[in-house]
Amino acid sequence: MLIDSAYDILNRSIIEYRGEPVGTAAAVDPNPEATHYHECFIRDFVPSAIVFLLDGRTDIVRNFLTAVMKLRGLQPVAEGHQRSMGLMPASFRVGNGKDDTPLVGDFGERAIGRVIPVDSAMWWLLLLRAYVITSKDWGIMADLEIQQCVRQVLDLYLRESFESAPTLLVPDGSFMIDRRMGVHGYPLEIQALFYGTLLSARELITGVVGSENALGELDIRIRALRDHVRVRYWVDRDRLNEIHRFKSEEFGLEATNVLNVYPESIPDWMDGWLDSHCGYLVGNQGPGKVDFRFFAQGNLLSILFGLATDEESGKIMSLYELHWDELIGEMPAKIAYPAVSGREWMCLTGSDPKNAAWSYHNGGNWPVLLWPFVGAALTTGRRDLAQRAMDLMAERIEQDNWPEYYDGRKGSLVGRRSNSFQTWTATAYIIAHKLMADPDTLRLFDTLTFSTIGDGSPREP
Ligand code: GLC
Repeated sequence: MLIDSAYDILNRSIIEYRGEPVGTAAAVDPNPEATHYHECFIRDFVPSAIVFLLDGRTDIVRNFLTAVMKLRGLQPVAEGHQRSMGLMPASFRVGNGKDDTPLVGDFGERAIGRVIPVDSAMWWLLLLRAYVITSKDWGIMADLEIQQCVRQVLDLYLRESFESAPTLLVPDGSFMIDRRMGVHGYPLEIQALFYGTLLSARELITGVVGSENALGELDIRIRALRDHVRVRYWVDRDRLNEIHRFKSEEFGLEATNVLNVYPESIPDWMDGWLDSHCGYLVGNQGPGKVDFRFFAQGNLLSILFGLATDEESGKIMSLYELHWDELIGEMPAKIAYPAVSGREWMCLTGSDPKNAAWSYHNGGNWPVLLWPFVGAALTTGRRDLAQRAMDLMAERIEQDNWPEYYDGRKGSLVGRRSNSFQTWTATAYIIAHKLMADPDTLRLFDTLTFSTIGDGSPREP
């Protein structure tokens, strides 16, 4: 059975440290394309952890949370700089492959392109919440090191720098897309993770002695972030029409086109792309810039965490229905649409051959996106779309050896440099399977107490 084959990959990927399971390797490919995939990546462990939590194997998740907490702040620090204690590594491995040596983290000092993992500590906090609500181990929040760690993460992510908006400003390649792809500034996926992180922190520290001030500040920030994303990132027919007719060069407080976005920057492919029933959150925005590309993970997490309104969430799923061939194709789901090519590819990726058009991060199809897709589809009452995506994956994933990603406009080719037996490809299938069997498991990502923050109606920009 397909599910057994997926579990086999998950179980083979488990990494032990001092006799205890502590994480999962990114892939269990005997002939890996990427040699560092024996490491445990924080973001890749998240779907493994969800499976473990749903199966009651909570110990491994607790071990992981503790191990990564102990690695925080151990990054090399350049001369003249101060140590950010809330920074967590992108990945870790057991030192020298020997069980009794300390774990070694990678904070970007070994990573290709030296990219900084901004998402790691956010995933860690989201997972801490998921662990607590599943295992009911609220006692972990009494641990002083955990409390200190949560505080340090919040200090880092809420630190003031050059802010002009409640969103988080980050360098290129700081999350799942961990190569140059023109995703620096305010990418949607980071904002969705940031929102989920702040909400998780709020839920976890409620009741912790001395957290009253922090809670008040968190509420303000969460509300501001939510309203900002709902208004500024949302695009549907009406909004596109507004942008199409934007006035520019407006100076002063009364400006409507506050970011001075030129209508001429609307890409050609947008012409006729949206019908009146659909919309989505754009990939990024900043001064003079809207990145109109559709980024799956950011949109799907926004649905799961309740960052998008119910109406917006429904319209995002309608977009999937309308553009099924482009956004799902033969393997759920396209990571970003459309691909960039030619000069734009040269400029945005630094002529990266791995990110050639319709491959890898640049328009490739990633089976790991099945789990947030199914989660988002069920959240919005679109079980039909969830089932369709699951059937597609089931058709060929095992015979293709559970690849990391697929290439091509429709994702019909196994990724040229894709690993086989990629752990999060297998765990995505297991989670999707569990969500379909028991939609109550969606509680792991739902917004629970989040609805108590504000009235949910976006403010004008
Ligand atoms: C690639 C992906 C990244 C993932 C890693 C391990 O670098 O871009 O998101 O964490 O592989 O699977």
